[in-house]
Amino acid sequence: MADESPQQQTPDSLMLFGFWYRALPSERAGRGKLVKAMLLEVPLVIGRDKQRRPFALRDACPHRGMPLSFGWFDGEQVECSYHGWRFEAHTGQCQLIPSLTSDQKFRVDRIYAGSFPCEEHDDYIWVYIPEPAPAGAGFTKAAAPPVPAPRVPTFSQKYKIAYLTADLPCSVDHGIIGLMDPAHGPFVHQAWWWRSRQSIHEKQKNFEPIPYGFRMSAHTPSSNSAPYKLLRLYADADSITTTIDFVLPNMRVETIRAGKYWFSSLTTVTPITRDHCRIDVVAAWNIFRWMPFGPQLLKFVFAKFVRQDQETMEKQSEGLKHNPHLMLIDDADRPAKWYFQLKQAYLEARRNGVEMQHPMTGPVTLKWRS
Ligand code: FES
Ligand SMILES: [Fe+2]
Repeated sequence: MADESPQQQTPDSLMLFGFWYRALPSERAGRGKLVKAMLLEVPLVIGRDKQRRPFALRDACPHRGMPLSFGWFDGEQVECSYHGWRFEAHTGQCQLIPSLTSDQKFRVDRIYAGSFPCEEHDDYIWVYIPEPAPAGAGFTKAAAPPVPAPRVPTFSQKYKIAYLTADLPCSVDHGIIGLMDPAHGPFVHQAWWWRSRQSIHEKQKNFEPIPYGFRMSAHTPSSNSAPYKLLRLYADADSITTTIDFVLPNMRVETIRAGKYWFSSLTTVTPITRDHCRIDVVAAWNIFRWMPFGPQLLKFVFAKFVRQDQETMEKQSEGLKHNPHLMLIDDADRPAKWYFQLKQAYLEARRNGVEMQHPMTGPVTLKWRS
């Protein structure tokens, strides 16, 4: 192990631009409605056109800054509530400035409301947040995203899907390291059907580097939780393999496979402002599809977990208000250290315009008790 001493670490709350982020659950955006959202301190207005295709514009009119979300939307154009400028919803291109007289040759089509690439998958509207444009650059067309928005992994034609969302009163860094922290389980997530403090035992897990992140390698999940025992029985599978990936900027992807059955989830922790984030979990599965209450049951279980994490982070934020010194210890906090190193490596590569240097050089085995 590289360093045995506790590491003093204060998470910086730098937010990573140039990635896709979940803006809001699909069902919150209705046709003809303008909905406010915020990502990385960028105010957005989100809506759907007549074909139900979503769009995202900066929630500030390029004329005098009025939030466009106070305006009107006819299914094609967004009209600002202050002076009636009209913008094409997807490109943000200005279509009309009502105050212009017919002999005033002002080029309306050269004006853009800021617009962002927008995709809809797996019950969410995703928005690509590019690097902020240099100051004074003015509004132009949206930059094309380098990759499509992330998807929840699926392994069969038919499956069920459900989502959960919760606000967290902390920086995205605390949200993320709270998500990957293995040592809080027995203290925060106690339940008779899951595990108790008495069941704490030593664990050993293998990790390996993957692009922009790391993977907890496939293994047979710990035997101290009832749901896994049940699953093994039900699927009639000799083994259950689980992989948990963390990938920058904010994604945890878990897949569990047992024979022809599978369960997967894509969890994201999204920076809203520098001291506020949101956790969104989308799960998909073909296990228990025959059960009438399958999705509700699963949602209930997940909701309980997320609520426990949320309550914990609400309490933690009281302590963090006063900027205490923090430490990350081996091995339980090693994933958190990797997260900070990955983030640093990403920012450094971007600054210098070079390829990102992965902080991990190869597979690593970590040990902890939980
Ligand atoms: S502020 Fe929007 S039209 Fe003037
Ligand atoms: Fe948790």
